[in-house]
Amino acid sequence: MKKILSLVLFCIMGVLSFGNDVLYVGTNAEFAPFEYLENGEIVGFDIELINKVGEKIGKEIKIKNITFDGLLPALQTNKLDLVIAGMTMTAEREKFVDFSDDYFVANQVIIVPEKDSSIVNLDSLKGKKVAVVLGYTGDLMVSKIEGVDKVQYNSAPGAIMALTSGKVDAMILDSAPAGSYIVQNKGLKIVKIDAEEEKYAIAVAKGKKELVESINKALKEIKEEGTYDKLIIKYFN
Ligand code: ARG
Repeated sequence: MKKILSLVLFCIMGVLSFGNDVLYVGTNAEFAPFEYLENGEIVGFDIELINKVGEKIGKEIKIKNITFDGLLPALQTNKLDLVIAGMTMTAEREKFVDFSDDYFVANQVIIVPEKDSSIVNLDSLKGKKVAVVLGYTGDLMVSKIEGVDKVQYNSAPGAIMALTSGKVDAMILDSAPAGSYIVQNKGLKIVKIDAEEEKYAIAVAKGKKELVESINKALKEIKEEGTYDKLIIKYFN
């Protein structure tokens, strides 16, 4: 009896300590080149970056693909250990989660039909139907402009479809993913705007100081040894 009991205990401990070597990382894979699906597999800049971080800190990375607005709640309830999702660090989000050092600088842009000439800056969005993705920083930005008819979509592909089918006049999105969407969808173009710079970082549940520190150390090494630049060239050239 005792033997069985200790065997069971041993197994449980094994499972627990094995579990400790895994980091569950949430993302939302509709944000190329940062994270997207290729033949059903989640790939991209962020995915490679977080796997390198995992290697450095000796943890196995397991990626979970969920909706963008579900990511931070999942962190807060410990269903995820980390989030990497081209996520902008904002003061509002910092109330709920902690962020690593930033690893990428981005801007919002406007996507419009190629033939449009009326939308040239943020101001010209007034009176227009503008698609945003629920909870993205672009959603927040548009909310601050008065007189815009903002239409929220649950996903980036949904918003792009609304634009290509003429349901909306424009869409707001981060510059790099906007670039990849206009390659995939003919007849669209990008209007650059003078929007505030945004910094992408890895989100961690509040108070996990050691984890954040080890991630920052890993990020620093990844930059210093040139791995970061290789990833930039791979995904942005
Ligand atoms: N940078 C924007 C934000 O933080 C959009 C991020 C969307 N990322 C994604 N993987 N879908 O709100």
